[in-house]
Amino acid sequence: MKIDYQEPSKDLLMRIDIHEKYGSANIDVWTNELLNPQAGMNILDVGCGAGKLCFLFNDYVKGAAKITGGDFSEELLEKAREKNKTVGADIDFQFLDFNEKFKFADNAFDLCTSAFAIYYASDLDFTFGEAHRVLKPGGRLFVSGPLPENKKMFYDIIKEATNATIPPMPGSSRFKGDIFNTISKIFSKTELHTFENHLTFPEVAPFIDYVRASLGEDRRLWTSMFNGNDEYEALIGKITEVATRWFERDGKLVMTKVVGGILATK
Ligand SMILES: C[S@@+](CC[C@H](N)C(=O)[O-])C[C@H]1O[C@@H](n2cnc3c(N)ncnc32)[C@H](O)[C@@H]1O
Repeated sequence: MKIDYQEPSKDLLMRIDIHEKYGSANIDVWTNELLNPQAGMNILDVGCGAGKLCFLFNDYVKGAAKITGGDFSEELLEKAREKNKTVGADIDFQFLDFNEKFKFADNAFDLCTSAFAIYYASDLDFTFGEAHRVLKPGGRLFVSGPLPENKKMFYDIIKEATNATIPPMPGSSRFKGDIFNTISKIFSKTELHTFENHLTFPEVAPFIDYVRASLGEDRRLWTSMFNGNDEYEALIGKITEVATRWFERDGKLVMTKVVGGILATK
């Protein structure tokens, strides 16, 4: 059997599906209430993936905003374009690498968003500088990402299964610190909002599906813990054993996603 390194879109869609199936709260509702996008707005979503946020805003404004989704994964962009056709939307999905200059004019957008993506940027000053440049004066930037408390149970189970120290994750370790600080340095007003979602797994199997689907996102953590497919499967086996023990002890497995939303105004 082969490890699914090459299938980020499958992993991403699996995680989104698991959040929706087992979660106590809906991040889409939180996002819309916080941002309240309006008809007539010009919106850019950076690192749009398969277009989750773009379609959310498009539904909310009933197709009456100009929405652009940018990502550097052609595979995910293709998924987004297919959905565009299926649902009859007119979102512009195009290639965008957030480590390069954005191909948009200054002062073009009312809202620039990035969900679980932009914290991978290699030069935060540069990337958030670009987001600031393309926003209109008074335009808003919204960036969501994991806070350090995120998925504690997930990491505790891995720690117990491996006896290893968990290295800091690229997202959560930077979000509240570097990323918040960079944005507040560049933008005139910056706030941090928090969203919590308790995922209650009624059995061990969907939790293990989540673990496997996290491999793409947390690749740096995982690759430091196994070498090749046999070691990977042995690791999953150990994680399954610990998760089963926890499940038998507690009668359920509850993992809390703790998400931060940085909202800034130009
Ligand atoms: C965890 S996914 C989130 C996708 C989407 N925003 C969502 O909420 O479903 C992270 C996304 O960041 C994109 N990404 C990573 N590095 C990027 C870069 N340098 N430029 C543009 N997109 C990038 C990935 O292709 C992926 O779509």
